[in-house]
Amino acid sequence: MLQEDFRVAIDIGTTKVCTIVARKRADHRVEVAGIGFVPCNGMSKGMVADSAAVTAAVKESVALASAEAGVEINTVYAGLTGSHVESKNRWVSVPRPDGVRTVTDLDISAAKKASGAVDLADDRKLLHVIPRSYALDGLYGIRNPLGMHTGELHVESHVITGSISKITELRNAVSDAGVRVSSMVVEPVASADAVLTADEREEGAVLVDVGGGTSDIAVYHDGAVVHTAVIPVGGWQFSNDLSIAFAIGFDEAEKLKIEHGTAAPELAGMKEEITLNPTTMDVPLTITKREVGQVLKERTSELFRMIMLKLDEPHLADIPTERIVFTGGGAKLDGFLNIAKLLFQRKVRLATPRGLDGMPKGTNDPSYSAAAGIALWGMRNLPVENHIGQLKNAPATSVSGNSDATMKPGALSVIRGWLPKRDSDAKREKETAGA
Ligand SMILES: Nc1ncnc2c1ncn2[C@@H]1O[C@H](COP(=O)(O)OP(=O)(O)OP(=O)(O)O)[C@@H](O)[C@H]1O
Ligand SMILES: [Mg+2]
Repeated sequence: MLQEDFRVAIDIGTTKVCTIVARKRADHRVEVAGIGFVPCNGMSKGMVADSAAVTAAVKESVALASAEAGVEINTVYAGLTGSHVESKNRWVSVPRPDGVRTVTDLDISAAKKASGAVDLADDRKLLHVIPRSYALDGLYGIRNPLGMHTGELHVESHVITGSISKITELRNAVSDAGVRVSSMVVEPVASADAVLTADEREEGAVLVDVGGGTSDIAVYHDGAVVHTAVIPVGGWQFSNDLSIAFAIGFDEAEKLKIEHGTAAPELAGMKEEITLNPTTMDVPLTITKREVGQVLKERTSELFRMIMLKLDEPHLADIPTERIVFTGGGAKLDGFLNIAKLLFQRKVRLATPRGLDGMPKGTNDPSYSAAAGIALWGMRNLPVENHIGQLKNAPATSVSGNSDATMKPGALSVIRGWLPKRDSDAKREKETAGA
């Protein structure tokens, strides 16, 4: 096993930190080598609120994942979210010498560079430039122009930026735990990578990761991301509403939501009684499950209205968004999908991460989509780099050091070779095999 076969992803959520050590296998699949999950209250709405708490949780989560994988973790890809994350689509002309000639790798790099040449305000940093499609001599809708002939080349890219101060706060909280962040991966894009099927990405789908403090949105069509947005509302607000409505502490409200909560109180069995301990009363309070559901239904409807507003964008007018795929712990609320179906009048489903083998029992859960997606997206889209080292006192055979880990000519095909296959790849291979 080589060092560069391993990549480490860290999702610093509003309620937990999750580190995943992912490892390529010889059979083209990626599997979990180690995972560390630690509850954390150091983030608020996706941003650092208590850096010492974040650092402590990162340290613990990295130590757990490191021990399980049997490797030392030096470097990570970190997930990033929060309402400071903004995006837009840009069409640009790719500068290239005059005359008709074939499109080369250099043109593709120039296309990315030209798309990323945006005028950034003082506190903004470019996070991702994701090419969506190309136009060759005015012919639109070309996905991979490599090797085609054209005089003029234009590219449309999805460009994502974030606040430098928010990014730096997160980066510092992680590096104080003794690990370096090599790249940030924006969480809606990561979660979408882990849960959307090839058909959903092609035909059009909206991904919504309802976390503890944010709901991250990514819209896909024609195989690529076309819109991203972050709403600063998640499961925390649901519990907080219960805490206010019944004058109970937040922890009791959280337990109430998970054990008895529903977003569809009109469904059967709602007369069940629950006893609470309000902070404002000396005696317990008895309420029904229906009352709990009424509070949660209002918050769910409000969240769905906010999602609709985020989708009400001129550039989405012609994008088919008939399918909504929910993930994230907040979407596990009972009745959540019933209300979604009713309000959106579209196909809805709750998704768990896919494409990463060996997720331990209990982690094949919507809360882990972002962490799994950060690892998968990083493997597919970021350059090869070493994230791990030999664990002190570990057997010398576990990881062979590779001092020559920089990318060599031809290395890209090796990287592609071990990436997890998407459904479309498998379909194509089946078609090719049958042809
Ligand atoms: N069974 C359940 N019913 C309702 N809510 C649940 C359930 N299980 C977990 N949750 C909620 O899920 C939320 C945590 O989800 P998740 O782990 O995806 O968030 P996070 O990644 O920490 O936060 P964020 O992505 O917003 O930064 C919490 O608010 C929790 O109360
Ligand atoms: Mg999350």
